[in-house]
Amino acid sequence: MTGHAGNGAMGTGAGLERPGDPCTILIFGAMGDLTKRKLLPSLYNLRCHGLLPKDFAIVGFARRDLDHARFRAEMTAAIRQFATRPVDDQIWADFEARIYYAKGDFGDAAAFAKLGHDLEEIALRHHTGGNLLAYLASPPDTFATVVRQLGAAGLAKQGPGRWVRVVVEKPFGRDLESALGLNTEIRGVLHENQIFRIDHYLGKETVQNLLVFRFANGIFEPIWNRRYIDHVQITVAEDLGVEGRGAFYEAAGVVRDIIQNHIFQLLCLIAMEPPSTLSAEAVRNEKVKVLEAVRLPSAEEILQQTVRGQYGDGFVGGAKVPAYRAEANVSPASKTETYAAMKLFIENWRFSGVPFYLRSGKRLAERDTGISIQFRRPPLLLFREAGVDRIDPNRLDIRIQPEEAIRISMKAKLPGPTIRLENVKLEFSYKDFGEQSPATGYERLLYDCMTGDSTLFHRADIVEAAWRIATPILDLWASLPPRDFPNYAAGSWGPAAADELLAKDGRRWVNGE
Ligand code: BG6
Repeated sequence: MTGHAGNGAMGTGAGLERPGDPCTILIFGAMGDLTKRKLLPSLYNLRCHGLLPKDFAIVGFARRDLDHARFRAEMTAAIRQFATRPVDDQIWADFEARIYYAKGDFGDAAAFAKLGHDLEEIALRHHTGGNLLAYLASPPDTFATVVRQLGAAGLAKQGPGRWVRVVVEKPFGRDLESALGLNTEIRGVLHENQIFRIDHYLGKETVQNLLVFRFANGIFEPIWNRRYIDHVQITVAEDLGVEGRGAFYEAAGVVRDIIQNHIFQLLCLIAMEPPSTLSAEAVRNEKVKVLEAVRLPSAEEILQQTVRGQYGDGFVGGAKVPAYRAEANVSPASKTETYAAMKLFIENWRFSGVPFYLRSGKRLAERDTGISIQFRRPPLLLFREAGVDRIDPNRLDIRIQPEEAIRISMKAKLPGPTIRLENVKLEFSYKDFGEQSPATGYERLLYDCMTGDSTLFHRADIVEAAWRIATPILDLWASLPPRDFPNYAAGSWGPAAADELLAKDGRRWVNGE
Protein backbone atom coordinates (compact mmCIF):
# COMPACT_ATOMS: atom_id res chain seq x y z
CA MET A 1 0.00 0.00 0.00
CA THR A 2 1.58 3.28 -0.90
CA GLY A 3 0.42 6.81 -0.71
CA HIS A 4 1.62 10.34 -0.52
CA ALA A 5 0.05 13.38 0.97
CA GLY A 6 1.11 16.99 1.22
CA ASN A 7 2.81 17.63 4.54
CA GLY A 8 2.59 20.59 6.84
CA ALA A 9 5.79 22.44 7.58
CA MET A 10 6.88 19.97 10.27
CA GLY A 11 5.57 16.96 8.48
CA THR A 12 2.94 16.69 11.19
CA GLY A 13 0.05 17.68 9.01
CA ALA A 14 -1.99 20.79 8.52
CA GLY A 15 -2.36 23.53 11.08
CA LEU A 16 1.24 24.37 11.92
CA GLU A 17 1.60 27.27 9.54
CA ARG A 18 1.86 30.30 11.77
CA PRO A 19 4.80 30.82 14.12
CA GLY A 20 4.18 30.55 17.84
CA ASP A 21 3.43 33.72 19.84
CA PRO A 22 6.42 35.93 20.74
CA CYS A 23 7.72 34.76 24.11
CA THR A 24 10.60 34.07 26.44
CA ILE A 25 11.26 30.41 27.05
CA LEU A 26 12.51 29.95 30.59
CA ILE A 27 14.07 26.55 31.26
CA PHE A 28 14.56 25.27 34.81
CA GLY A 29 17.26 22.63 34.98
CA ALA A 30 18.90 24.19 31.94
CA MET A 31 22.15 22.28 32.33
CA GLY A 32 20.44 18.90 32.26
CA ASP A 33 20.24 16.27 29.56
CA LEU A 34 16.70 17.07 28.49
CA THR A 35 17.61 20.67 27.62
CA LYS A 36 20.65 19.67 25.63
CA ARG A 37 19.33 16.58 23.88
CA LYS A 38 15.73 17.54 23.22
CA LEU A 39 14.64 21.08 24.02
CA LEU A 40 17.42 23.01 22.33
CA PRO A 41 17.46 20.88 19.14
CA SER A 42 13.64 21.09 18.96
CA LEU A 43 13.64 24.87 19.31
CA TYR A 44 16.33 25.05 16.65
CA ASN A 45 14.24 22.84 14.33
CA LEU A 46 11.20 25.05 14.92
CA ARG A 47 13.35 28.06 14.06
CA CYS A 48 14.46 26.42 10.80
CA HIS A 49 10.82 25.73 9.90
CA GLY A 50 9.86 29.33 10.60
CA LEU A 51 7.62 28.18 13.46
CA LEU A 52 9.50 29.82 16.27
CA PRO A 53 8.29 33.42 16.71
CA LYS A 54 10.53 36.08 15.23
CA ASP A 55 10.66 37.67 18.69
CA PHE A 56 11.87 35.16 21.20
CA ALA A 57 14.49 34.65 23.88
CA ILE A 58 15.64 31.68 25.90
CA VAL A 59 16.65 31.90 29.54
CA GLY A 60 18.34 28.97 31.25
CA PHE A 61 17.98 28.81 35.03
CA ALA A 62 20.25 26.46 36.97
CA ARG A 63 22.50 26.22 40.00
CA ARG A 64 25.83 26.13 38.17
CA ASP A 65 28.00 29.24 38.43
CA LEU A 66 27.93 30.44 34.80
CA ASP A 67 27.53 33.74 32.97
CA HIS A 68 25.66 34.34 29.69
CA ALA A 69 28.78 33.78 27.59
CA ARG A 70 29.68 30.48 29.20
CA PHE A 71 26.10 29.26 29.06
CA ARG A 72 25.93 30.19 25.36
CA ALA A 73 29.16 28.24 24.80
CA GLU A 74 27.60 25.21 26.54
CA MET A 75 24.49 25.48 24.38
CA THR A 76 26.59 25.87 21.22
CA ALA A 77 28.47 22.68 22.10
CA ALA A 78 25.15 20.95 22.81
CA ILE A 79 23.53 21.96 19.52
CA ARG A 80 26.61 20.78 17.61
CA GLN A 81 26.33 17.43 19.36
CA PHE A 82 22.57 16.86 19.43
CA ALA A 83 21.03 18.78 16.52
CA THR A 84 18.98 16.52 14.25
CA ARG A 85 20.02 18.54 11.18
CA PRO A 86 23.19 20.34 10.07
CA VAL A 87 23.58 23.57 12.04
CA ASP A 88 23.50 26.71 9.90
CA ASP A 89 26.07 29.18 11.30
CA GLN A 90 24.02 32.24 10.46
CA ILE A 91 20.81 30.93 11.98
CA TRP A 92 22.66 29.75 15.06
CA ALA A 93 24.41 33.11 15.52
CA ASP A 94 21.02 34.85 15.73
CA PHE A 95 19.66 32.07 17.95
CA GLU A 96 22.63 32.13 20.29
CA ALA A 97 22.42 35.90 20.78
CA ARG A 98 18.95 35.37 22.29
CA ILE A 99 20.14 32.93 24.96
CA TYR A 100 20.63 34.10 28.56
CA TYR A 101 21.57 32.50 31.84
CA ALA A 102 20.15 33.00 35.31
CA LYS A 103 21.97 31.40 38.20
CA GLY A 104 19.99 30.36 41.21
CA ASP A 105 18.79 27.81 43.65
CA PHE A 106 15.17 26.66 43.27
CA GLY A 107 14.55 27.44 46.93
CA ASP A 108 16.04 30.95 46.82
CA ALA A 109 13.40 33.68 46.67
CA ALA A 110 16.01 36.36 45.97
CA ALA A 111 17.15 34.50 42.85
CA PHE A 112 13.58 34.52 41.59
CA ALA A 113 13.20 38.22 42.31
CA LYS A 114 16.35 38.89 40.26
CA LEU A 115 15.06 36.55 37.57
CA GLY A 116 11.92 38.70 37.40
CA HIS A 117 13.98 41.83 36.68
CA ASP A 118 16.08 40.01 34.08
CA LEU A 119 12.95 38.70 32.36
CA GLU A 120 11.49 42.20 32.14
CA GLU A 121 14.62 43.52 30.48
CA ILE A 122 14.83 40.59 28.10
CA ALA A 123 11.15 40.97 27.20
CA LEU A 124 11.74 44.60 26.25
CA ARG A 125 14.93 43.87 24.33
CA HIS A 126 13.35 41.05 22.32
CA HIS A 127 9.81 42.42 22.03
CA THR A 128 8.21 39.32 23.51
CA GLY A 129 5.32 41.27 25.01
CA GLY A 130 6.06 39.62 28.35
CA ASN A 131 4.73 36.19 27.33
CA LEU A 132 6.50 33.53 29.35
CA LEU A 133 6.82 29.81 28.72
CA ALA A 134 8.45 28.21 31.75
CA TYR A 135 9.64 24.64 31.26
CA LEU A 136 10.27 22.51 34.34
CA ALA A 137 13.10 20.30 33.09
CA SER A 138 14.36 20.02 36.67
CA PRO A 139 14.01 16.90 38.88
CA PRO A 140 10.39 16.00 39.78
CA ASP A 141 10.86 16.81 43.45
CA THR A 142 11.49 20.47 42.51
CA PHE A 143 8.26 21.01 40.52
CA ALA A 144 6.13 22.31 43.39
CA THR A 145 8.93 24.53 44.74
CA VAL A 146 9.64 26.15 41.38
CA VAL A 147 5.95 26.86 40.74
CA ARG A 148 5.58 28.30 44.23
CA GLN A 149 8.60 30.56 43.65
CA LEU A 150 7.25 31.71 40.29
CA GLY A 151 4.02 32.63 42.02
CA ALA A 152 5.72 34.41 44.92
CA ALA A 153 7.89 36.45 42.54
CA GLY A 154 4.80 37.52 40.57
CA LEU A 155 6.01 35.64 37.50
CA ALA A 156 2.92 33.44 37.11
CA LYS A 157 0.54 36.34 36.68
CA GLN A 158 -1.04 36.86 33.28
CA GLY A 159 -2.23 40.22 32.04
CA PRO A 160 -4.29 41.47 29.12
CA GLY A 161 -2.61 40.06 25.99
CA ARG A 162 0.16 38.52 28.06
CA TRP A 163 0.27 34.82 28.87
CA VAL A 164 2.27 32.66 31.25
CA ARG A 165 2.37 28.90 30.65
CA VAL A 166 4.24 26.24 32.58
CA VAL A 167 5.32 22.90 31.14
CA VAL A 168 5.58 20.18 33.77
CA GLU A 169 7.67 17.13 32.92
CA LYS A 170 6.92 13.60 34.05
CA PRO A 171 6.73 11.80 36.37
CA PHE A 172 3.81 13.78 37.75
CA GLY A 173 3.70 12.41 41.30
CA ARG A 174 4.58 8.86 42.28
CA ASP A 175 1.13 7.67 43.29
CA LEU A 176 -2.41 8.99 43.52
CA GLU A 177 -1.87 10.85 46.76
CA SER A 178 1.29 12.68 45.67
CA ALA A 179 -0.24 13.54 42.27
CA LEU A 180 -3.30 15.00 44.01
CA GLY A 181 -0.98 16.97 46.28
CA LEU A 182 1.09 18.27 43.37
CA ASN A 183 -2.02 19.26 41.44
CA THR A 184 -3.32 21.15 44.47
CA GLU A 185 0.02 22.92 44.92
CA ILE A 186 0.46 24.06 41.36
CA ARG A 187 -3.19 24.96 40.93
CA GLY A 188 -2.80 27.19 43.95
CA VAL A 189 -0.56 29.31 41.70
CA LEU A 190 -1.64 28.59 38.13
CA HIS A 191 -4.95 28.22 36.37
CA GLU A 192 -5.45 24.77 34.79
CA ASN A 193 -5.19 26.29 31.30
CA GLN A 194 -1.70 27.57 32.15
CA ILE A 195 -0.44 24.08 33.02
CA PHE A 196 0.99 21.88 30.29
CA ARG A 197 1.72 18.39 31.70
CA ILE A 198 3.87 16.94 29.00
CA ASP A 199 4.08 13.33 27.77
CA HIS A 200 6.52 13.02 24.90
CA TYR A 201 4.67 9.99 23.51
CA LEU A 202 1.86 12.29 22.46
CA GLY A 203 4.29 14.18 20.23
CA LYS A 204 5.18 11.10 18.24
CA GLU A 205 4.02 11.11 14.65
CA THR A 206 2.34 7.69 14.71
CA VAL A 207 0.70 8.39 18.06
CA GLN A 208 -0.81 11.58 16.66
CA ASN A 209 -1.92 9.52 13.71
CA LEU A 210 -4.06 7.25 15.91
CA LEU A 211 -6.94 9.70 16.02
CA VAL A 212 -6.67 10.35 12.30
CA PHE A 213 -6.60 6.62 11.59
CA ARG A 214 -9.65 5.95 13.73
CA PHE A 215 -11.78 8.99 13.03
CA ALA A 216 -10.83 10.17 9.53
CA ASN A 217 -11.50 6.72 8.04
CA GLY A 218 -15.00 5.33 8.00
CA ILE A 219 -14.17 1.65 7.66
CA PHE A 220 -12.66 0.92 11.06
CA GLU A 221 -15.13 2.50 13.46
CA PRO A 222 -17.97 -0.02 12.85
CA ILE A 223 -15.74 -2.94 13.84
CA TRP A 224 -14.00 -1.14 16.72
CA ASN A 225 -15.86 -2.87 19.52
CA ARG A 226 -16.39 -6.03 21.57
CA ARG A 227 -18.35 -7.71 18.78
CA TYR A 228 -15.36 -7.86 16.48
CA ILE A 229 -12.28 -7.33 18.64
CA ASP A 230 -10.92 -10.33 20.51
CA HIS A 231 -8.26 -8.45 22.49
CA VAL A 232 -5.79 -5.58 22.32
CA GLN A 233 -2.06 -5.61 23.12
CA ILE A 234 0.01 -2.51 23.82
CA THR A 235 3.76 -2.96 24.06
CA VAL A 236 6.58 -0.55 24.83
CA ALA A 237 9.66 -2.74 24.62
CA GLU A 238 13.10 -1.22 25.03
CA ASP A 239 16.42 -2.93 24.40
CA LEU A 240 18.18 -0.24 26.45
CA GLY A 241 18.87 -0.60 30.15
CA VAL A 242 18.70 2.29 32.59
CA GLU A 243 21.46 4.28 30.83
CA GLY A 244 23.07 5.94 33.82
CA ARG A 245 19.68 6.78 35.38
CA GLY A 246 19.92 4.10 38.07
CA ALA A 247 19.13 6.45 40.94
CA PHE A 248 15.99 7.75 39.22
CA TYR A 249 14.90 4.31 38.09
CA GLU A 250 15.33 2.67 41.50
CA ALA A 251 12.61 4.95 42.85
CA ALA A 252 10.45 4.66 39.75
CA GLY A 253 10.25 1.26 38.06
CA VAL A 254 8.53 0.62 34.78
CA VAL A 255 4.95 1.20 35.94
CA ARG A 256 5.73 4.76 37.04
CA ASP A 257 8.18 5.40 34.19
CA ILE A 258 6.19 4.12 31.21
CA ILE A 259 2.88 2.41 31.97
CA GLN A 260 1.08 5.01 34.11
CA ASN A 261 1.75 7.68 31.49
CA HIS A 262 2.83 6.59 28.00
CA ILE A 263 0.96 3.27 27.81
CA PHE A 264 -2.20 4.56 29.46
CA GLN A 265 -2.24 7.37 26.89
CA LEU A 266 -2.01 4.86 24.05
CA LEU A 267 -4.84 2.96 25.73
CA CYS A 268 -6.95 6.13 25.76
CA LEU A 269 -6.34 6.84 22.10
CA ILE A 270 -7.24 3.30 21.09
CA ALA A 271 -10.32 2.99 23.29
CA MET A 272 -11.84 6.48 23.43
CA GLU A 273 -15.14 7.41 21.83
CA PRO A 274 -15.07 9.89 18.94
CA PRO A 275 -14.92 13.38 20.45
CA SER A 276 -17.58 15.81 19.25
CA THR A 277 -14.87 18.26 18.12
CA LEU A 278 -11.08 18.33 18.13
CA SER A 279 -10.97 20.95 20.85
CA ALA A 280 -8.56 20.22 23.71
CA GLU A 281 -11.43 19.79 26.16
CA ALA A 282 -13.51 17.53 23.92
CA VAL A 283 -10.56 15.21 23.24
CA ARG A 284 -9.45 15.12 26.85
CA ASN A 285 -13.01 14.55 28.10
CA GLU A 286 -13.16 11.37 26.04
CA LYS A 287 -9.73 10.22 27.20
CA VAL A 288 -10.49 10.56 30.86
CA LYS A 289 -13.69 8.55 30.40
CA VAL A 290 -11.61 5.59 29.21
CA LEU A 291 -9.40 5.65 32.30
CA GLU A 292 -12.41 6.07 34.55
CA ALA A 293 -14.00 3.03 32.92
CA VAL A 294 -11.02 0.77 33.61
CA ARG A 295 -12.19 -1.79 36.15
CA LEU A 296 -9.95 -1.59 39.20
CA PRO A 297 -8.81 -5.15 39.82
CA SER A 298 -9.28 -6.66 43.29
CA ALA A 299 -6.18 -7.80 45.20
CA GLU A 300 -6.83 -11.35 43.99
CA GLU A 301 -7.13 -10.16 40.38
CA ILE A 302 -3.96 -8.11 40.67
CA LEU A 303 -2.10 -11.25 41.67
CA GLN A 304 -3.52 -13.16 38.72
CA GLN A 305 -3.55 -10.47 36.07
CA THR A 306 -0.24 -8.69 36.56
CA VAL A 307 3.34 -9.82 36.18
CA ARG A 308 6.46 -7.98 37.27
CA GLY A 309 10.04 -8.69 36.36
CA GLN A 310 13.60 -7.56 36.65
CA TYR A 311 16.37 -8.34 34.19
CA GLY A 312 19.40 -10.42 34.96
CA ASP A 313 22.51 -10.29 32.81
CA GLY A 314 22.34 -11.42 29.22
CA PHE A 315 23.04 -10.45 25.64
CA VAL A 316 21.51 -7.58 23.75
CA GLY A 317 22.45 -7.12 20.11
CA GLY A 318 25.25 -9.68 20.55
CA ALA A 319 26.88 -7.77 23.42
CA LYS A 320 27.00 -8.99 27.01
CA VAL A 321 25.14 -6.62 29.34
CA PRO A 322 24.99 -6.57 33.14
CA ALA A 323 22.01 -7.39 35.32
CA TYR A 324 19.88 -4.50 36.58
CA ARG A 325 21.23 -5.04 40.10
CA ALA A 326 24.77 -4.51 38.77
CA GLU A 327 23.99 -1.13 37.16
CA ALA A 328 25.43 2.06 38.67
CA ASN A 329 23.39 3.52 41.56
CA VAL A 330 21.20 0.42 41.82
CA SER A 331 20.98 -1.63 45.01
CA PRO A 332 22.44 -5.16 44.65
CA ALA A 333 19.22 -6.38 46.32
CA SER A 334 16.90 -4.08 44.34
CA LYS A 335 13.23 -5.02 44.18
CA THR A 336 12.45 -2.44 41.49
CA GLU A 337 10.55 -3.83 38.52
CA THR A 338 12.10 -3.26 35.09
CA TYR A 339 9.27 -5.15 33.39
CA ALA A 340 5.53 -5.28 33.92
CA ALA A 341 2.62 -6.83 32.10
CA MET A 342 -1.03 -6.58 33.03
CA LYS A 343 -4.49 -7.43 31.81
CA LEU A 344 -7.09 -4.71 32.24
CA PHE A 345 -10.73 -4.42 31.25
CA ILE A 346 -12.58 -1.29 30.19
CA GLU A 347 -16.11 -1.57 31.45
CA ASN A 348 -18.17 0.32 28.92
CA TRP A 349 -20.59 -0.62 26.15
CA ARG A 350 -17.90 -0.67 23.51
CA PHE A 351 -15.28 -2.80 25.22
CA SER A 352 -16.86 -4.72 28.06
CA GLY A 353 -15.20 -8.14 28.24
CA VAL A 354 -12.35 -7.34 25.83
CA PRO A 355 -8.97 -7.85 27.53
CA PHE A 356 -6.33 -5.17 27.08
CA TYR A 357 -2.88 -6.65 27.66
CA LEU A 358 -0.28 -3.99 28.43
CA ARG A 359 3.44 -4.53 28.88
CA SER A 360 6.71 -2.65 28.97
CA GLY A 361 10.24 -3.56 29.89
CA LYS A 362 13.87 -2.57 29.73
CA ARG A 363 16.55 -4.77 28.17
CA LEU A 364 14.12 -6.77 26.08
CA ALA A 365 15.02 -8.51 22.84
CA GLU A 366 14.44 -5.45 20.71
CA ARG A 367 13.10 -1.93 20.68
CA ASP A 368 9.52 -2.35 19.63
CA THR A 369 6.61 -0.11 20.48
CA GLY A 370 3.22 -0.82 19.04
CA ILE A 371 -0.41 -1.72 19.39
CA SER A 372 -1.92 -4.93 18.07
CA ILE A 373 -5.65 -5.34 17.71
CA GLN A 374 -6.63 -8.94 17.30
CA PHE A 375 -10.00 -9.51 15.67
CA ARG A 376 -12.27 -12.49 16.24
CA ARG A 377 -12.35 -15.42 13.89
CA PRO A 378 -15.17 -15.56 11.35
CA PRO A 379 -18.27 -17.22 12.83
CA LEU A 380 -18.17 -20.17 10.44
CA LEU A 381 -14.82 -21.73 9.60
CA LEU A 382 -15.54 -22.72 6.02
CA PHE A 383 -11.89 -23.27 5.28
CA ARG A 384 -11.17 -25.54 8.23
CA GLU A 385 -9.74 -28.22 6.00
CA ALA A 386 -7.36 -25.72 4.48
CA GLY A 387 -6.02 -25.00 7.95
CA VAL A 388 -7.73 -21.67 8.60
CA ASP A 389 -7.94 -22.38 12.32
CA ARG A 390 -4.19 -22.88 12.49
CA ILE A 391 -3.53 -19.39 11.17
CA ASP A 392 -3.87 -16.32 13.37
CA PRO A 393 -7.11 -14.39 12.85
CA ASN A 394 -7.03 -10.91 11.33
CA ARG A 395 -4.83 -8.49 13.16
CA LEU A 396 -4.24 -4.78 12.89
CA ASP A 397 -0.76 -3.74 13.98
CA ILE A 398 0.06 -0.12 14.58
CA ARG A 399 3.83 0.05 14.84
CA ILE A 400 5.05 3.17 16.60
CA GLN A 401 8.80 2.65 16.76
CA PRO A 402 11.40 2.00 15.59
CA GLU A 403 9.34 1.28 12.49
CA GLU A 404 6.35 3.56 11.86
CA ALA A 405 3.76 1.55 10.04
CA ILE A 406 0.20 0.23 10.00
CA ARG A 407 -0.35 -3.35 8.95
CA ILE A 408 -3.41 -5.51 8.48
CA SER A 409 -2.86 -9.23 8.32
CA MET A 410 -5.41 -11.32 6.52
CA LYS A 411 -5.79 -14.69 4.87
CA ALA A 412 -5.20 -15.34 1.22
CA LYS A 413 -5.19 -18.43 -0.92
CA LEU A 414 -1.76 -19.65 -1.86
CA PRO A 415 -1.42 -20.03 -5.61
CA GLY A 416 -1.87 -23.64 -6.68
CA PRO A 417 -4.45 -26.26 -7.56
CA THR A 418 -5.55 -26.94 -3.96
CA ILE A 419 -6.88 -24.54 -1.35
CA ARG A 420 -4.11 -23.63 1.01
CA LEU A 421 -4.22 -20.47 3.10
CA GLU A 422 -1.50 -18.12 4.15
CA ASN A 423 -1.35 -14.88 6.13
CA VAL A 424 -0.56 -11.84 3.97
CA LYS A 425 -0.10 -8.24 5.00
CA LEU A 426 -1.50 -4.98 3.76
CA GLU A 427 0.92 -2.37 4.85
CA PHE A 428 1.26 1.38 5.02
CA SER A 429 4.67 2.60 6.06
CA TYR A 430 5.45 6.13 7.13
CA LYS A 431 8.47 5.94 4.86
CA ASP A 432 6.01 6.14 1.97
CA PHE A 433 5.60 9.83 2.74
CA GLY A 434 9.15 10.28 1.51
CA GLU A 435 11.91 12.06 3.38
CA GLN A 436 10.64 13.31 6.76
CA SER A 437 12.27 16.23 8.49
CA PRO A 438 14.46 14.78 11.21
CA ALA A 439 12.94 15.73 14.53
CA THR A 440 13.25 15.07 18.25
CA GLY A 441 9.51 14.56 18.80
CA TYR A 442 9.30 17.61 21.08
CA GLU A 443 8.79 20.14 18.28
CA ARG A 444 5.06 19.77 18.02
CA LEU A 445 4.63 19.87 21.79
CA LEU A 446 6.73 23.01 22.24
CA TYR A 447 4.95 24.65 19.35
CA ASP A 448 1.58 23.83 20.90
CA CYS A 449 2.70 25.49 24.15
CA MET A 450 3.57 28.63 22.21
CA THR A 451 0.15 28.72 20.56
CA GLY A 452 -1.73 27.67 23.70
CA ASP A 453 -3.09 24.36 22.40
CA SER A 454 -3.23 21.88 25.27
CA THR A 455 -4.85 18.96 23.40
CA LEU A 456 -1.70 16.84 23.61
CA PHE A 457 -1.09 17.55 27.30
CA HIS A 458 -2.52 15.82 30.35
CA ARG A 459 -5.27 17.51 32.27
CA ALA A 460 -5.23 17.11 36.06
CA ASP A 461 -8.10 14.61 36.03
CA ILE A 462 -6.33 12.42 33.43
CA VAL A 463 -3.20 12.13 35.55
CA GLU A 464 -5.28 11.37 38.62
CA ALA A 465 -7.39 8.76 36.83
CA ALA A 466 -4.20 7.06 35.60
CA TRP A 467 -2.80 6.94 39.13
CA ARG A 468 -6.10 5.58 40.41
CA ILE A 469 -5.44 2.48 38.28
CA ALA A 470 -1.70 2.14 38.86
CA THR A 471 -1.51 2.88 42.60
CA PRO A 472 -3.35 -0.20 43.97
CA ILE A 473 -1.15 -2.43 41.81
CA LEU A 474 2.02 -0.73 43.03
CA ASP A 475 0.81 -0.85 46.64
CA LEU A 476 0.01 -4.55 46.48
CA TRP A 477 3.36 -5.30 44.88
CA ALA A 478 5.15 -3.26 47.54
CA SER A 479 3.41 -5.27 50.26
CA LEU A 480 4.53 -8.56 48.68
CA PRO A 481 8.20 -8.15 47.76
CA PRO A 482 9.17 -10.30 44.76
CA ARG A 483 11.16 -13.41 45.60
CA ASP A 484 12.22 -14.41 42.12
CA PHE A 485 14.08 -11.30 40.89
CA PRO A 486 15.92 -11.29 38.53
CA ASN A 487 13.42 -13.35 36.58
CA TYR A 488 14.25 -12.64 32.95
CA ALA A 489 17.47 -12.51 31.01
CA ALA A 490 18.51 -9.29 29.33
CA GLY A 491 17.81 -9.74 25.63
CA SER A 492 14.74 -11.96 26.15
CA TRP A 493 11.05 -11.05 25.83
CA GLY A 494 10.53 -10.86 29.60
CA PRO A 495 9.52 -13.29 32.36
CA ALA A 496 7.90 -16.62 31.51
CA ALA A 497 4.95 -15.62 33.70
CA ALA A 498 4.08 -12.88 31.18
CA ASP A 499 3.75 -15.50 28.44
CA GLU A 500 1.61 -17.60 30.78
CA LEU A 501 -0.65 -14.62 31.44
CA LEU A 502 -1.75 -14.78 27.80
CA ALA A 503 -1.36 -18.52 27.33
CA LYS A 504 -3.94 -19.25 30.02
CA ASP A 505 -6.38 -17.15 27.96
CA GLY A 506 -5.40 -19.07 24.81
CA ARG A 507 -3.47 -16.11 23.42
CA ARG A 508 0.14 -15.07 22.79
CA TRP A 509 2.13 -11.86 22.66
CA VAL A 510 2.97 -10.35 19.30
CA ASN A 511 6.76 -10.18 19.57
CA GLY A 512 8.55 -8.07 16.98
CA GLU A 513 6.43 -9.35 14.08
C1 BG6 B 1 10.92 8.08 29.06
C2 BG6 B 1 11.40 7.15 30.13
O1 BG6 B 1 9.74 8.72 29.44
O2 BG6 B 1 10.67 7.34 27.87
C3 BG6 B 1 12.63 6.37 29.70
O3 BG6 B 1 11.71 7.90 31.31
C4 BG6 B 1 12.36 5.68 28.37
O4 BG6 B 1 12.99 5.41 30.67
C5 BG6 B 1 11.80 6.67 27.36
O5 BG6 B 1 13.58 5.12 27.91
C6 BG6 B 1 11.37 5.95 26.11
O6 BG6 B 1 11.04 6.90 25.15
P1 BG6 B 1 11.11 6.56 23.62
O7 BG6 B 1 10.62 7.79 22.96
O8 BG6 B 1 12.54 6.24 23.33
O9 BG6 B 1 10.22 5.37 23.44
